[in-house]
Amino acid sequence: MKAQIAFFKGEFIPYDKANLHITTHALHYGTSIFEGIRGNWNKDDKTLYVFRIKEHFDRLLEGCKMLMIDIPYNSEDLCKITIELLAKNNFKEDVYIRPLAYKSEELVANLKLQDLSSDFALVAVPFGLYIDSDRAINCCTSSWRRIDDTMIPTRFKIGGHYVNSILAKTEATLSGFDEAIFLTQDGYVSEGAGENLFLIKDKTIIMPPVTANNLTGITRDSVIKLASEELDIKIIEQNIRRSEIYIADELFLTGTAAHVTAVGSLDNRKIGNGDVGPITKQIQELYFECVTGKNPKYINWCIATNKGK
Ligand SMILES: Cc1ncc(COP(=O)(O)O)c(C=O)c1O
Repeated sequence: MKAQIAFFKGEFIPYDKANLHITTHALHYGTSIFEGIRGNWNKDDKTLYVFRIKEHFDRLLEGCKMLMIDIPYNSEDLCKITIELLAKNNFKEDVYIRPLAYKSEELVANLKLQDLSSDFALVAVPFGLYIDSDRAINCCTSSWRRIDDTMIPTRFKIGGHYVNSILAKTEATLSGFDEAIFLTQDGYVSEGAGENLFLIKDKTIIMPPVTANNLTGITRDSVIKLASEELDIKIIEQNIRRSEIYIADELFLTGTAAHVTAVGSLDNRKIGNGDVGPITKQIQELYFECVTGKNPKYINWCIATNKGK
């Protein structure tokens, strides 16, 4: 079902009417902060579970601070607007929720954030799998390096810095791979083009620190909790070299869009036996229970909405 209603310039309006002028600052310079939030439809109890919505809006507002984007809402307001939007659209399927806080000034030749007006918009659209997470995907090391925190901070979802991810994803897919893995300027593993990265060696999970210029992922945080508390797996945060991936037992990527996705190869070298590894499988199963509201212990990660008959 197509989206019917959007939240735009402070109001709920028809989705097709949520349009901006061509001179809008964010369109020219990438001066926006966005989020990607998932609503997961649970067929059994016919309910849409929105996953860790508050954490997403907290991150959005941190990004707004960084880009001097003033919007008249706090995290609680944004959560309420989102739940109302989902109800108005009456979604009964998986959805992707996209809030956008942006520099709305319609005068383009001004590079001073402090001079520019801001606004906020929110849409939600039906959205299934971003990457086929039933199989292990094939990745390549990107020839593009990850941008550095000293250039544009990667801890926030800043519109403009996604050109870096888009160049890498495009290169990877045109070369026949599913996803790209970024290295930092220093040659350490950073993350996927749109996902955080976890390596497993000798039953220990190793992940790059956020100083390797990755996004502080909400799925990453969820997986850290699930792996350590539910599976009792040791997790180490340390810099990873590209060659360590080739000899890893398992590798997986995490993200709101990608969920938990196993990686079967990097640069045409098989990782483990090339399939979804046993620890990755356990984490995937636990994570899917949580995002669809099926795990009572983690039910507070979800907001239940759009209950159907
Ligand atoms: C570059 C990048 N890294 C990591 C992630 C994963 O973050 P999250 O789990 O908060 O969706 C994303 C997804 O938004 C991303 O775009």
